[in-house]
Amino acid sequence: MDDDLRHGAVPGEAPVRPVHLPQRHDEGGQVIQVARHGLPRGERNRDRGWRHRGPCRPRAPPRATRHDQVLNGLGVVLAADPGEIVFVRGATEAINLVAASFLAPRIEPGDEIVLSVMEHHSNIVPWHFLRERCGAVLRWVDVGDDGSLDVEAVDAAIGPKTKLVAIAHMSNVLGTINPIAEIVERAHAAGALVLVDGAQAAPHMAIDVVDLDCDFYVFSGHKMYGPTGIGVLYGKAALLEEMPPYQGGGDMIRSVTFEKTLYKDAPHKFEAGTPDIAGAIGLKAAITYITGIGIPAIRTHEEMLLSYATERLQKVPGIEIVGTSEDKLGALSFVLKDIHPHDIGTILDQDGIAVRTGHHCAQPVMDRFHIPATVRASFAMYNTTSDVDALVNGISKVKEIFN
Ligand SMILES: Cc1ncc(COP(=O)(O)O)c(C=O)c1O
Repeated sequence: MDDDLRHGAVPGEAPVRPVHLPQRHDEGGQVIQVARHGLPRGERNRDRGWRHRGPCRPRAPPRATRHDQVLNGLGVVLAADPGEIVFVRGATEAINLVAASFLAPRIEPGDEIVLSVMEHHSNIVPWHFLRERCGAVLRWVDVGDDGSLDVEAVDAAIGPKTKLVAIAHMSNVLGTINPIAEIVERAHAAGALVLVDGAQAAPHMAIDVVDLDCDFYVFSGHKMYGPTGIGVLYGKAALLEEMPPYQGGGDMIRSVTFEKTLYKDAPHKFEAGTPDIAGAIGLKAAITYITGIGIPAIRTHEEMLLSYATERLQKVPGIEIVGTSEDKLGALSFVLKDIHPHDIGTILDQDGIAVRTGHHCAQPVMDRFHIPATVRASFAMYNTTSDVDALVNGISKVKEIFN
């Protein structure tokens, strides 16, 4: 890996620990530093402009707050208008917001929501709520044995009753990158809207919501090396405007009387209560960090690692890689004959090799591949080919122990 990429754009970043294959955020701690210490006086609250709450004393004239800056940064990352960005706790809350505020009021019993079998539980359970509460029908699109999603299969699942297609941009188990632009085209042609779960894609690839033409796009800050507890819902302005607020409280109102509340316009009406200011500042630092290195450079590096790891793992007898789509990135899931993933993870961990094991909050895709769990190595910008070598050596050790 070239040094510029490895050490990032932030001076003073600590050297990368030798082996760590799950997604790890904030290698050098600089994002945490900013989130912890980056709250200058007067920036304790915001209203997408300058605002000071509490005991008042004269303040500086209006200027761009860090919240504005993070919005601008997000605008660049998503190619979206900052007015179409809602701050939420993460991808999960964003999807729940869309389910409750956008889709629930529009669902008649029998209306359909199209999902792929590779979805994370965050992009399944909110739709199950609508099945239970509003009579929605979930239509599942299968993947091929290589874990790829065929646009024709999605098209075939979309019918006159389809209200929404909810689909991952990238699978957190299979690594598959889905053909979102084509799916959006098919869905729109049938009068259905599309929500994209970008939680996995956001740190690995460039996202252009205008180009994709998706109606909603969601992701979590912590997947982009930022802090937990902050994430983003992008929604087309016209849709956000139509949607009722999701939660009520301070900051999202124009006025409150004994009789009624008048809400602010979108996106403010969806941001009830004191915002996660430290989280937003941390997210801004993460975005600066990533964009400083450059998403294309990160992607190229991760593609190299994935193909190196795939080639090496394929040669290990007894290993089966789960998810071999040509269009894939980030995650490399595998199973090893007769050895449970949890045992593999425990032994690798003893050698300082961190992988994630389990169903990865995606039980339906485990069922699809008739497995209870996988071992998953995730590649990020700080990993190196020697991390992959250590993983392969660790697997040999696991096999020695069990055979
Ligand atoms: C594909 C995908 N979607 C959604 C989520 C949920 O993200 P969060 O728990 O940050 O809301 C995750 C988290 O792992 C994920 O991988």
